[in-house]
Amino acid sequence: MKIRDSVAFVTGANRGIGLVFAQELLAAGARKVYAAARNPESIPLSGVERVRLDVTNPEAVASAARASGDVNRLINNAGIALWTGFLAPGSVEAARSEMETNYFGPLYLSRAFAPALAKNSGGAIVNVLSILSWVAVPSAGTYSASKTAAWALTNWLRTGLREQGTQVLGVHAGPVDTDMASGLTLPKVTPVDVVRQVLNALEAGRDEVLVDDMTRQVKAGLSDEPGIYLNFDPEAALPAAN
Ligand SMILES: NC(=O)c1ccc[n+]([C@@H]2O[C@H](COP(=O)([O-])OP(=O)(O)OC[C@H]3O[C@@H](n4cnc5c(N)ncnc54)[C@H](OP(=O)(O)O)[C@@H]3O)[C@@H](O)[C@H]2O)c1
Repeated sequence: MKIRDSVAFVTGANRGIGLVFAQELLAAGARKVYAAARNPESIPLSGVERVRLDVTNPEAVASAARASGDVNRLINNAGIALWTGFLAPGSVEAARSEMETNYFGPLYLSRAFAPALAKNSGGAIVNVLSILSWVAVPSAGTYSASKTAAWALTNWLRTGLREQGTQVLGVHAGPVDTDMASGLTLPKVTPVDVVRQVLNALEAGRDEVLVDDMTRQVKAGLSDEPGIYLNFDPEAALPAAN
């Protein structure tokens, strides 16, 4: 599915991976990029259609979809990670917030935009997931649960929208060098690397992108005996040093 002349809608487009999506889509010749953010004035980019959108608000999502019926690429990128330990005060509230943003957000968006995608030759949905859709670490169990739910949503969309010809692309990544991962000392890939892999995969008609070695190792380890998810150690999942 070509990016040139496409019309894309990107959530969380004011910073991090979402901002790079908007930049790279324009650079690849997209005809229009709707850049959505809770505060659209904070989008440091010209040449985009700014949209005010909190992805946890279903009425606002429905109204944004009505106002952008020409969309044929939906990029569900907005997300939060609250880095909460299991017994930390507030971990239940964190779980609810992450589920609202990381699962219900893409659910609202995908439902609201599916009719426009159908009208526009099927189009495509990209869901930005995580290595933590498959494994958990102590500080991100609630985030992990929300990304596992979002992975299940991605698989549901792929089968549910197959008849209308919508390509559904799940993106799994380990640490990416943005604000979200600023507290992590693990090696990180750049947002540009992530986005270029995704745009190439969209054009190639693929269903899934595994961005980095650690993510590829985790996916391969799911069927190991014992499965990698039983005792995941991110340091051990790094490629061996030369
Ligand atoms: N960084 C990583 O290591 C990593 C790895 C794997 C996957 N991911 C995923 O990649 C995606 C982008 O993350 P990032 O690394 O770019 O993080 P980031 O730099 O923290 O940016 C997060 C973006 O999401 C937006 N957002 C959060 N809640 C929102 C809401 N309710 N409505 C609308 N926008 C909202 C933020 O907007 P505000 O400026 O208004 O807060 C911001 O634009 C997320 O889905 C994340 O889970 C990240």
